Formats: sequence, C-alpha cells, structure tokens
Amino acid sequence: MYLTRDEEDILGGSKGESAQKAMELIVALGKVYGADGLVDITSAHLSGASYKTIGDGGLKYLEDVSKDAKVAVKATLNPLGMDRDRWREMKISDHFAQKQLRIIEFYGKMGVRTTCSCTPYLIDNIPSFGDHVAWAESSALSFVNSYIGARTNREGGPGALAAAIIGKTANYGLHSDENRRPTMVIDADIGSTLFDHSLLGQAVGRIIGGGIPYYRNIRPDIESLKSMSAAMAAAGSVAMFHVEGITPEASLHDIKDLERVHIGKKELEDARLSLNTADDVQLIAFGCPHLTVREITEMAAFLKDKKKRREDVDIWFCTSSDARNKCPDQVRILERFGPVLADTCMVVAPIEANYQRTGTNSAKAGNYLPTLCSQKVICSDFSKLMEMVL
Ligand code: F3S
Repeated sequence: MYLTRDEEDILGGSKGESAQKAMELIVALGKVYGADGLVDITSAHLSGASYKTIGDGGLKYLEDVSKDAKVAVKATLNPLGMDRDRWREMKISDHFAQKQLRIIEFYGKMGVRTTCSCTPYLIDNIPSFGDHVAWAESSALSFVNSYIGARTNREGGPGALAAAIIGKTANYGLHSDENRRPTMVIDADIGSTLFDHSLLGQAVGRIIGGGIPYYRNIRPDIESLKSMSAAMAAAGSVAMFHVEGITPEASLHDIKDLERVHIGKKELEDARLSLNTADDVQLIAFGCPHLTVREITEMAAFLKDKKKRREDVDIWFCTSSDARNKCPDQVRILERFGPVLADTCMVVAPIEANYQRTGTNSAKAGNYLPTLCSQKVICSDFSKLMEMVL
C-alpha cells in the first residue's frame, strides 16, 4: 500500500501519539481490504456517542485520545444516550447522565461538532457529489452514498474517528467506481407511505445482504429515502443503493444482465410480520432515523385535535435539536402526547431499564430494539400506533 512522505511521517509519530495511532488503524484497515493508498476526506461522521453503547472502556479511550488529538476535517457525532436537557423525563439515572456528559465533552475537545444526530446530512454535514468521506452510522452513510453521491465505506466508530483525526481514509470499496455498481434490480410495487418504504428496505435488506440494489418504479421523498437507507442497513448490510430517476449514479449503470426481484404487497407484509413480536406496548417511539421538520409537521397535523387516553403508554418523538428548534408550534402539539427529545433515540438510550415492549414505525428500530434493548416490538405505521393510545 502506497503512503506519501507526509503519511509515513505521521505513522512515525511526527504529529503526536494519537495521530500516529489513527494512521496505524487506517493503514491496517487498508491492508486488510486491499487499498492501494489513502484518499483525502472532506468530512467524517462518528458513531459511538452513547454511554450505553461504548461503556466505560469507550469513555476511557476517548479521554486518552482527546488529550492530544484534534479532528482535521469537519466531523459530526451520532445520537447520545439521552436528551442533554430532558434526560430526567427519559428516566435516565444520574450515573448514566454524568458519564454521557463526559463523552460529549471529550468529543467536543477534539473539535467534533456535538450536534448528535443520525441525519447530519440535513443539518451541518452535507457532503457534495464525488466527495470522499468517512462515515459511521449505517443509515446516514447509505443516504450520502446513494442520494448525494458522496463516497464512504461502512465505517466503524474507531475507524471514522481515526479518519477524522488524519483527514484521510483507505482507498477501497465504495471509494472506487467499480464497487458502486448495482448487483440486483428491485421491481417494487408498493404504496407511497413512509412505512411502505421502510418495509421495502426491510424486505430488500433481508434478500440482498451486502449487495447494491437498483430500484425501479418508486418515487421516494427524502423521508422515505432515509427510512429505506436505515432499514436496508439493519436488515442486511447495504451501504449503497440506486433509485432510477432519483439517485445521481443510477443512470451510469447497465442493468440488463442483473437478477430481478419483484417486491410487492405480500413481501411487505412478510417483512412487517417478521418484526412484530408484541401484542401491546409500554412505549411508542418515533424518529428512527431522526424526525425531519416535515415529519413533525405531518404528525402535528394528525394529532392537533386528538387526545391521549392511555396513561400507561409513554410516547417519544426523537429528532435533532435543529429540527426541534425549527417548528416550535408543531412541537408544542406533539408535547401534549409525549416529549420531543433531541439528539438521542430509542435504540441508543437505555430504555431496557424501564420498558419491555415498544412500538415503532421504523424497520431499523424494529430490528435493533430486540437485540440492543431487549424489547418485544410492534412495528406499524404512525397512525395505527397512535390509535392504540387515542
Ligand atoms: Fe438514528 Fe437511532 Fe435509528 S441513531 S437511525 S434513530 S437507531
């Protein structure tokens, strides 16, 4: 693997111990995956922000790295294990909150933007077409590969942080044209709702694993694209997809010899059933990935004249601070039903301490709530979930 003189120097320790270790990690990854060299990145997005997911080991690691490391490019951070201001409403313990606040402090010390959303591409980290970036957070990296045409592999937390510190990543996988070709054509015959698209991602992720689907016959909006990205990455390990007529690289590829798969109502229903394991809920949580202003506005319009009847069910709306601040009137309506929580989510928060059965309209959350939060799940669309408590 070719390294420039500067890169060799960093590997030798010229920019301090943390940069040296970061370079060692990126070079090791490059060697494993057959990279020919390193490539400059314009941004990074880091996972590993919740105390629940990184624990004391991760906290100590961040404390050590942040002593002498600074990020060299724009770097944003994934959701936290709690809302920074409203964690008591989430029944988070003092112990958890103190540790979580220290994690934010260490990332901030390194120059990472602590906006803490899984939709940074709608806020303060918006790559351009063709940019090489190093993003963790499977839903976000799939979105920027597919909708924007930026280039990133499916980075892990430590790899993305190392890339942010040296401003480079190893040049392999989805950084190269030949690995961005579709591997299967999906002829979709589905409805137009957000939940239909989330289930489409679930069905396709289960079939295609780590392949690259090429969708025909759908016209997803931003919200549906983010839900599909999340579901495909959770049900399979999809890091990129094409949608005919929408994603920028779709028209570059010849698809005539690819395998074709039809996904219709039956496949969507099978996908939905595969995620449903509960018959009642204690918590209903929306916003995986984080709710956009448009979703908040639509939810508020639906709930405007309604009343919550069941006090034994909590409701969370998870979004970014940015989106929450942009629509205060709509947020006020949602707050009659439950807290609009910023910069956290139902999966990376320690909900298992207080709940065993959770409702979600996200196929991604439907995959992870059982495994990461020990929940039984009802996965259904927004209006059906709300009807359980109205
Ligand atoms: Fe985002 Fe949490 Fe879902 S990080 S994609 S809301 S699991």
